[in-house]
Amino acid sequence: MKRFSLRTLYLLAVLCVPAQADGPPMGTEADVKYAALLWQHLEAEELVGNNARPLEPFFGGARPHGMILEIVAQDLSVEQHTGFLVLKRNYSGEGVSVEEVARDRVRFLNSITVMYRREKGYDPDNQDWFWVKYQPDGSLFRNPKNTEMAGRIMKGPSWEQSGGCIYCHASAGGGDYVFYPEIHVPGYSPVQ
Ligand code: HEC
Repeated sequence: MKRFSLRTLYLLAVLCVPAQADGPPMGTEADVKYAALLWQHLEAEELVGNNARPLEPFFGGARPHGMILEIVAQDLSVEQHTGFLVLKRNYSGEGVSVEEVARDRVRFLNSITVMYRREKGYDPDNQDWFWVKYQPDGSLFRNPKNTEMAGRIMKGPSWEQSGGCIYCHASAGGGDYVFYPEIHVPGYSPVQ
């Protein structure tokens, strides 16, 4: 993951125009259940939880996601469905640095943000991505409206106000909702 492009990526995200002001609901009972199921599979893959394996921490800049990041992108099967997963561990806090995170991940882990491509039809307007923001223990963050952050998280332009994942990620280059150009979503042909 390269450092030089992140500022540009963030600017793009901030300048993006909302695709939709309103959208399908997030944080529904089904979304929350699915987030819990997904967490179990992420634990089994040793991507989260007590047995989470180390990835490669890098400097991501303070916003929107955190100062030091670790990312993994791979296929993941959840019950009968296999979809593409992009998982990001976000580290922050007093004294955070790549070295400190490598030494003590638990201390600095602030959140885990996940995009997971679900079965066709889950959210056809947004390429069927499922969005979720986990606490380090697997419970869900809530937005200021007290809605759990899982599902089609789109509303609102500001990270602080609403954490509108889709709102921002819709502006990612290539039209695949993924910012890092190194990550290629299988089966997706970029829109030029
Ligand atoms: C303010 C805009 C903004 C919001 C809101 C936002 N993101 Fe991001 N996201 C970015 C940017 C910019 C990057 C690339 C730089 C970075 O990692 O910080 C990124 C990167 C990611 C990545 C790594 C894959 C990629 O796109 O390169 C994941 C996974 C992710 N975000 C998940 C989420 C989730 C889940 C939410 C909602 C809870 C969310 N994001 C909300 C802007 C945003």
